[in-house]
Amino acid sequence: MTAEPVTKPLLRVLTGKRTAIPPIWLMRQAGRYLPEYRALREKADGFLDLCFNSPLAAEITLQPIRRFGFDAAILFSDILVVPHALGQRVTFAQGEGPQLDPLEEPSALSSLRSDIDHNALEPVYATIARVKQDLPRTVALLGFCGAPWTLATYMIAGRGTADQFPARAFAYRHPDAFVRLIDVLVDASASYLCRQFAAGVDAVQIFDTWAGVLPADEFQRWCIEPVARMIAKVRAQVPAARIIGFPRGAGTELPRYLDAVPVDAVGLDWMTELSFAREHIQPRRTVQGNLDPLALLAGGAALDRATDAILEAFGQGPFIFNLGHGIVPDTPIAHVERLIARVRGRV
Ligand code: CP3
Repeated sequence: MTAEPVTKPLLRVLTGKRTAIPPIWLMRQAGRYLPEYRALREKADGFLDLCFNSPLAAEITLQPIRRFGFDAAILFSDILVVPHALGQRVTFAQGEGPQLDPLEEPSALSSLRSDIDHNALEPVYATIARVKQDLPRTVALLGFCGAPWTLATYMIAGRGTADQFPARAFAYRHPDAFVRLIDVLVDASASYLCRQFAAGVDAVQIFDTWAGVLPADEFQRWCIEPVARMIAKVRAQVPAARIIGFPRGAGTELPRYLDAVPVDAVGLDWMTELSFAREHIQPRRTVQGNLDPLALLAGGAALDRATDAILEAFGQGPFIFNLGHGIVPDTPIAHVERLIARVRGRV
């Protein structure tokens, strides 16, 4: 790992250095807005089959690199492969999002494995090894997982719900069972990330998509503490592990997140105010973000203005340009091209 930070701008920035032009990648950069993704998607039966088809998943991971020349490739997979590898049934109905057999009562937890089945995830590790071979030397490869809280919300509800009501209610009603579930997810996710590093990823991102629906105390208990424990476990095995945290919606709790969670960089959602982040977050950690995906969808003057404001706010410190959440499927390719050119100072 020692020679790589020099050749990959994104890894340099993760060590707290500034680059003249910020590295750029986009959450969900491999996906439905790309015609070449939609063409491959038709070749697989279900979405999970695609995630577990290493040749296709590797190709999809590389598609946005070939088309746009991003500074990082993110492994094509999904956060819900972890519940799958814990024995929960996970399916993706076309156009409807994920469906899992919900864990409605504490007794349902006994249907889960206590440790992650790495055999079920071998195809993911094989995808990493394949991508690694074909990736340009300057492009970083990112692995990822869901944070325990966000995974638990899908496992309990069986799907995405408004403000994740079912998991929040479950955590209040059955705190002991909820602690057990979170503990299983901390161990499973740490072990999963270690295997991703062993297979060749340069850094990982921990997606806590639903961090923002919790009151402050609950945020401390179910987001901050479990992710901090997870990172300690990962670094016990992989001391140099580079980690980006993405606690979406953390808002004014972000400083507290950084107090306790030793991430190398923090992904900011698009709601995060730029001057707040410049003054209180960037002096402490590399920041990543935070263009509103809908500004990218809209394009035109609104996109240029929003892009410039972010470059202006974060350009003087360690910074990775990204969206504040995933790219939306209707986003025109031309807008992505424009964004990259503008970040790189070409338009
Ligand atoms: O390009 C990349 O970012 C890499 C691949 C990736 C996917 N999902 C592919 C995907 C990553 C990093 C994820 C993470 C993920 N998955 C998160 C965290 C980030 C976020 O967006 O909040 C979450 C919550 C999930 C769970 C999930 N997967 C949902 C809720 C959905 C349905 C919504 C949707 O966008 O369709 C998915 C499906 C999914 N994951 C698709 C892709 C490309 C679309 C599936 C398809 O092609 O039919």
